[in-house]
Amino acid sequence: MHFTAQGDIGLGAGAKKVLDVIAGLDPQLNLALGDFSYRAGGEQQFCDMVTGKLGTDLPYQLITGNHESNGEEGDIDKFVRCLPNKLPGLQGQYGIQWRVDVPEQNPVVRFILVSPGIDFKNGNPLDYSKGSERWRWTAEAIDQARSQGIPWTVVGMHVPCFSLGEKSCQAGKDFTNMLIDKKVDLVLSGHDHVYQRSHQVGLGGNCSELVPANFSATCLTDKDGSMEQGAGTVFVTVGVGGVELYNVKNNDPEVGYFSTWSGKNRNPALGTLDVTVSADQLAARFVPAAGYSFTDSFALHRR
Ligand SMILES: [Fe+2]
Repeated sequence: MHFTAQGDIGLGAGAKKVLDVIAGLDPQLNLALGDFSYRAGGEQQFCDMVTGKLGTDLPYQLITGNHESNGEEGDIDKFVRCLPNKLPGLQGQYGIQWRVDVPEQNPVVRFILVSPGIDFKNGNPLDYSKGSERWRWTAEAIDQARSQGIPWTVVGMHVPCFSLGEKSCQAGKDFTNMLIDKKVDLVLSGHDHVYQRSHQVGLGGNCSELVPANFSATCLTDKDGSMEQGAGTVFVTVGVGGVELYNVKNNDPEVGYFSTWSGKNRNPALGTLDVTVSADQLAARFVPAAGYSFTDSFALHRR
């Protein structure tokens, strides 16, 4: 199973370069991690740009960003209409909170896409607080994947928690720790216009939780690029799908959690994450767009 993922795309030359990379990689599906047109009324132009580069058959799967969740700089409802779900068996509300197993028969990965930490049309965020309906939906989706023997679980959302860019823990400390506690294999986000990939982090021992804007080495379970499933979670922000990059803070207190990072002021690169998943291994790499050289790669192995 082969997919690509990136967010923060826009309508410009950068977006088109990254779409060219995706087209060359020829994935089975693409996860678009929010922030699409950055402009009200630009929805159809965005969808036409995507299908012009990738064709109309590729599942270009949407989860909303903050720029279209409240409808002010694009409207997620309109994006969902012009880039509809193309994956069989999808459950939930496409564009906002959904899950799907791929392939539909004998799946190797469950994708769970959620929307904590961003405002919707009523001006309020959706409730992902501890024990809320959306929290439970997410937790049950993870637990059920495991009980059904689906080898890998990937959670995606627009906002990160830990970040060396400009953003704070918008995904929420408790919600993020729940994903770690449940040993989600890979958590993907955008929002900060940087690329950053964490070490594998996990709870247990002297690490009872990860606290934003702090670092505890006791929460690191594996620090090299080859990791074992079940020890914890790897977080990747891929907010480099086309729009202008943000700076990274090399002295951020959370820097100890990260293996590699890239931003406007350090190895800048637009591009996409490229992930290949089999029953035994989840292997990922960052593929830069034309004119950029930053790369990354890591793999998780299943015992
Ligand atoms: Fe953005």
